[in-house]
Amino acid sequence: MLSKLVTQKFQELFNEKPLLVRSPGRVNLIGEHTDYNEGFVLPAAIDKAIYFAISPRNDEKCNLFALDMNDSFQFSVNSLQFTEKHWPNYLMGVVDQILKLGCNLKGFNCVFGGDIPIGAGMSSSAAIEAGLAFALNHIYNLGIDKLSLVKLAQKAENEFVGVNCGIMDQYINIFGKSGNVLRIDCRSLEYDYFPFDYKDISIVLFDTGVSHSLASSEYNQRRKECTLGVELIKKDHNQIKSLRDVTLTMLNGYKNKLDSKIFRRCKYVVEENDRMMKACESLNKKDLKSFGTLMYQTHEGLSKDYEVSCKELDYLVELTTNNPGVYGARMMGGGFGGCTINLIENKIVDETKKIISEKYKQKFNIDLKTYITSIGNGTSVMDEN
Ligand code: GLA
Repeated sequence: MLSKLVTQKFQELFNEKPLLVRSPGRVNLIGEHTDYNEGFVLPAAIDKAIYFAISPRNDEKCNLFALDMNDSFQFSVNSLQFTEKHWPNYLMGVVDQILKLGCNLKGFNCVFGGDIPIGAGMSSSAAIEAGLAFALNHIYNLGIDKLSLVKLAQKAENEFVGVNCGIMDQYINIFGKSGNVLRIDCRSLEYDYFPFDYKDISIVLFDTGVSHSLASSEYNQRRKECTLGVELIKKDHNQIKSLRDVTLTMLNGYKNKLDSKIFRRCKYVVEENDRMMKACESLNKKDLKSFGTLMYQTHEGLSKDYEVSCKELDYLVELTTNNPGVYGARMMGGGFGGCTINLIENKIVDETKKIISEKYKQKFNIDLKTYITSIGNGTSVMDEN
């Protein structure tokens, strides 16, 4: 077990008993690039996770050990500085935010590691941020409520790492619930649970194996483009605060006034918000076929209008389209690489995986990794046994 390896390494390095915390990755069924537009998202926490073994110290020193990279880093709570090493920034960013809340924090010893693939769009970064925030809250008894943990973990990424991400990943990491997807209203920050317990269907991720370096700069760029769209529409419609408030009819009135690229970005987001609502109706009716059709439409929008897909993702989705046992497929997460998410009938998963792997290998000479995920709980303290 991965948690055992993390604990063993902790004991070897620090010779004491740690607190053990499990912090999961996530999938998102539909509602992509809507969170920072105050729309809705439909993610779930999954069975892949990062495990933290952690204990408090009496001084200001923080000792980090990243098991998967076999790499260590030390810093002091009193002097947090961005490092080119990159991975420690996700953790220092969390310490930075906790201090900014006015909490009194001492140092800590920490070993972490897990099986969320990095750069695959399953949100390993949010698992690190929210997982550490949760763990520090616990060992130092800071009394920070769940939603504040989510917000500070998101801010850690915005301010210390420099990616202007929305709130979805950190939110689902903390609030995820086994057997359920969450519909999060990214404006009010309220949520509803939707049971996702289809016995015959698997949530399968196909990993392109690529993660294009454009990802974070283009992500920040998309956010700006959405803001530009809102600014123009707002001039005539005072009540508009974000793309959440814009209807397709209203947007169409701006077709000639908005730059065509900005128009397409806004169109995607407005349509995705509508699709999201239809998708929840389909879930209420247990109609996964309609749900899957909406997923394909999302992919089309992300690829053509929002332009955050890439040829590898497009190909993986295309390969599923004539297969009636695949209900839906689309790229997942920020884009420019990572995984596609697919709803596939259990009985054809192996065969589909085989065919797609062969074709993908032929075209890109990359071995396709496949993950069959199940929906688990959000971040929690683990039982010692
Ligand atoms: C990344 C971000 C999220 C969200 C998705 C796209 O995962 O961290 O906040 O914007 O991309 O839906």
